[in-house]
Amino acid sequence: MLTAATTASMPALADGEVNIYSYRQPFLIQPLLDAFTQETGVKTNVIFAKKGLGERISAEGENSPADVLLTVDIGRLDGAKQLGITQPVSSDVVNENIPAQYRDPEGHWVGLTNRARIIYASKDRVQQDTITYEELADPKWQGKICTRSGQHVYTIGLIASMIAHHGEARTEEWLVGVRDNLARKPTGNDRAQVKAIFSGECDLSIGNTYYMGKMETNEKDPEQKEWAKSVKLLFPNSEDRGSHVNLAGVVLAKHAPNKDNAVKLIEFLSGGNAQQIYAETNFEYPVTPGVEVSDRVKSWGDLTPDTLSLAEIAKHRKTASELVDKVGFDNGPAS
Ligand SMILES: [Fe+2]
Repeated sequence: MLTAATTASMPALADGEVNIYSYRQPFLIQPLLDAFTQETGVKTNVIFAKKGLGERISAEGENSPADVLLTVDIGRLDGAKQLGITQPVSSDVVNENIPAQYRDPEGHWVGLTNRARIIYASKDRVQQDTITYEELADPKWQGKICTRSGQHVYTIGLIASMIAHHGEARTEEWLVGVRDNLARKPTGNDRAQVKAIFSGECDLSIGNTYYMGKMETNEKDPEQKEWAKSVKLLFPNSEDRGSHVNLAGVVLAKHAPNKDNAVKLIEFLSGGNAQQIYAETNFEYPVTPGVEVSDRVKSWGDLTPDTLSLAEIAKHRKTASELVDKVGFDNGPAS
């Protein structure tokens, strides 16, 4: 901790501030921001909210104090770009640290960590240790699959990746097959599906990887540790194209009043140290090559990420959403 006296003697601390609007929870980003301030002398101000930040930046217009917006999912990153509240990040540091598939080709969003959308499987009732997304439509899983809403951004990302790989017609067929294998109407969040495996309502569920860590370490609601113990993680398509991954990331606000500091922050977050803290605190995967995943994340199995660019996936989000409605996915099985 710096005292006021040492602060005053360090010229770096005169370097101003950066204003962060964040959908990511304060506990998650504070350690990173502290490290950033220590390294650069730039002070950070955070506004946290669960929703409405993009709209807020839009409404604030040219007077918006926002420099960056931290959020999760390609749907929300690309959504910010579509909303017109972003500007391109132009930084050799960022371009070197973050592989191109995890950045907007025009620089309007930058991925900072990865999460895979994988299969949670009952340890007792599912014998196999490999699976594919395609196989979720196989009638052998009839009445066995649980998932959250087809319209949730996480599900839309997965379906959009199926469209990118297989085209719309085959994806529609697949979606019908998955729908007819559902044990119940889509309801609840990713963890609620694992609870349903624990209680015997289903054998497989679709969920993001980091929820395993959140359940395994949940001291507030220790019952979740039991849910986690009842499942193993299957990383779909490990033997072919790899598992669908999605991003947590950042955008540079269009009217960022502290643009230089904002770029400095994004560069810092793309660096190895920050990547490690970021990934470990929320059980995510670093996007910067060479940065190790945490031991806990490693214990779930090996992730082979699908190398399809997230920008390509984003293009199919609208069609994915239309297909979900068309097949009545959220109404559950037809029969
Ligand atoms: Fe989540």
